[in-house]
Amino acid sequence: RQPIVAIDGPAGAGKSTVARKVAESLGLIYLDTGAMYRAVTWLVLETGIKTDDEPAIAELVSQCDLKLTNSQVLIDGHDVTSQIRSWEVTDRVSAIAALPSVRRFLVEIQHQMGQKGGLVAEGRDIGTNVFPDAEIKIFLTASIQERARRRQQDLISQGQTEVSLSELELAIEKRDRQDSTRSLAPLLKADDAIEIDTDKLTVEEVIAQIVGLYRK
Ligand code: C5P
Repeated sequence: RQPIVAIDGPAGAGKSTVARKVAESLGLIYLDTGAMYRAVTWLVLETGIKTDDEPAIAELVSQCDLKLTNSQVLIDGHDVTSQIRSWEVTDRVSAIAALPSVRRFLVEIQHQMGQKGGLVAEGRDIGTNVFPDAEIKIFLTASIQERARRRQQDLISQGQTEVSLSELELAIEKRDRQDSTRSLAPLLKADDAIEIDTDKLTVEEVIAQIVGLYRK
């Protein structure tokens, strides 16, 4: 198979922007695994199933039709590309992502998509669990203040100006806590991952570092 680049890290560390651009410059496929957990969460909320009703969620997930392209996310025929970024989905996604049946199903799809390699996969457990033999493993971090500031910039660019930095910090900390303390495939730096602290780096500098590591 062709090489795989695994990029993991906490919420708001810049993984999506970086992974997308690294994939573009290396001519690889971009796989946003967070979007998959978000799409399933959207479907759970849409169908009105309680977020702690695991048997019903397991059934729903095993029958859903999930499609990811470089720019779109579709679930059961609905284009949910923008809805999966909503506050409601973001608030619930960690609980849904902690369910074993959901992870089993989505990791299976991720393995299928990665069979031939040639991709940049981004998430929380890519280097540790999904593709533990990935050639390049990156763990992206940034301080909580910087991550909240970046999220606020994103929201402002989408026309949402009323969310305060302290609210964002609390929401990000809550999600990190849930993602790092779950029993199944928690957010963890793989032993052989290279950690990049992005606080004082531009997006371009982070991309250049990863592309450089790939080409070495
Ligand atoms: O990366 P993003 O913020 O879109 O991920 C949304 C959520 O999906 C994370 O907070 C986490 O709960 C879950 N996730 C996961 N494993 C992954 C990717 C995302 O559990 N590989």
